[in-house]
Amino acid sequence: MLKTLLVTGGCGFIGSNFVRFALNHHLAENLVNLDKLTYAGNLANLADVASDPRYRFVKGDITDTALVRGLFEETQPDAIVHFAAESHVDRSIVGPGDFVQTNIVGTFTLLEAARAAWGKETAQRRFLHVSTDEVYGSLGETGRFTEETAYAPRSPYSASKAASDHLAAASFHTYGLPVLITNCSNNYGPFQFPEKLMPLIINNALHGKDLPVYGDGRNVRDWLYVEDHCRALRTVLEKGIPGQTYNIGGNNEQANIDIVTSICNLLDELAGPLPSGAPRTSLIRFVTDRPGHDRRYAIDATKIRRELGWEPQTTFREGLRRTVAWYLKHDGWLQAVLDGSYRDYYQSMYGERLS
Ligand code: NAD
Ligand code: TYD
Repeated sequence: MLKTLLVTGGCGFIGSNFVRFALNHHLAENLVNLDKLTYAGNLANLADVASDPRYRFVKGDITDTALVRGLFEETQPDAIVHFAAESHVDRSIVGPGDFVQTNIVGTFTLLEAARAAWGKETAQRRFLHVSTDEVYGSLGETGRFTEETAYAPRSPYSASKAASDHLAAASFHTYGLPVLITNCSNNYGPFQFPEKLMPLIINNALHGKDLPVYGDGRNVRDWLYVEDHCRALRTVLEKGIPGQTYNIGGNNEQANIDIVTSICNLLDELAGPLPSGAPRTSLIRFVTDRPGHDRRYAIDATKIRRELGWEPQTTFREGLRRTVAWYLKHDGWLQAVLDGSYRDYYQSMYGERLS
C-alpha cells in the first residue's frame, strides 16, 4: 500500500471516480487531492468521502510552482496520479489559452516538482500521467491506435495533451523520473460534466430539449466505463514499468448517432414517454459539425492486457444502462451543475466564494 498518493484534478469526472475507487480499495494510507475547482471541478462529486480521515482536499492550481513544490515538500507523496486538465475539445476551439496553461505548463510544473522532491530516490515512486487517445489523431474506416502509433493531434485540446505526454516522457528519459503514461479512450459514467456527449444528451432528452448531433453523426469513439478506467490506472500504478506507455480502451466502438438513439430508447423505457407521447428520438437534430472533427478513434489495448492482465469488465449495454439510471437518480446533481449552484457547495464547506 502507498503511504501518500497525490491526485490532481480529483474533483472532475474521472478524478472523482478514481479518488472514491482509491479510498474504497485502500490504495494508500493518505490521499491528497489538488484541484483548482474550475467550472469542471465540483466538490459535491466527493461529498461522500470528504470526512474520511485519509482524505484531504487542497484547492490550488497546478501551474502555481510555489504551491505545488510546497505540497510535495509537505506531503512527500510516493505516487502522483495526474488528471488535472482542461478536457473539452469544443472549449479548446473557442479558447485554447487555458489548455496550454493547465495541460502543458501545469504538467511541466508537476514533473519538475516531483523531480526536485524525489531526487535520485525514485525506486518506490511513481508519476502516472493520465492522457487520451486523441493525441494519435483521427482514423479512417480501419486500424487501431497502438502505443507505437505516431502522435498527430488535431485539436488544441489534443495538441496540449500531446505536448504534456512528450514532457512526461522526456522527464523519464532525461532525468529518470519514474513516469508512466496512459492513453485512454472516451470515458462515460457517473459525475461527467454535462457538456460532454452522454450527460448532455441524457439531460436534454430527459427534459424534452433538442439533441444536437454534430455533422452526420457517424463519428466513432471507443467508449470505456469510467470504473474500468480506474481499475486500469490502479493496475498501471501497481504493475506498470516506468518509462512505458499503456493504451486503455473499451474495445467498444460506437457511432455518435447510435449512442444518442440508445439513450433515447433507454429514457423512454426508464422515465416514461415525453408528455406529447412522441419517442425521444424525435428530438434528434443534426447540427453544424465541429471544426476539424476527428472521424474515428479506436484503441488496441493488447499491451495492457498481455503485460499487466487488465481488461474491461463492463459491457457497453450494462454501462450505458447504469449511466442513464445514475443521471435519472441524481437529477439534483445535474440541475445544480446546470444552474451553477454546485459552486455554492464550496462556500458552504469553506465559508468563502469561489473566484
Ligand atoms: P474534467 O474536465 O471532468 O476534470 C478536470 C479537473 O481538473 C477538474 O476538477 C478541474 O477543476 C481540474 N483542473 C483544471 N485545471 C486545473 C488546474 N490548473 N489546476 C488544478 N486543477 C485543475 O476532466 P476528466 O474528463 O475527468 O479528465 C481527466 C483527465 O483524463 C484529463 O487529463 C483528460 O485529458 C484525461 N482523459 C479524459 C477522458 C474522458 O473521456 N473524459 C479520456 C481519456 C483521458
Ligand atoms: P465529447 O463528449 O465532447 O468527447 P470528444 O470530443 O473528446 O470525443 O464528444 C463525443 C463525440 O460526440 C464527438 O464525436 C463529438 C460528438 N458530440 C455531438 O455530436 N454533439 C454534442 O453536443 C457533443 C457535446 C458532442
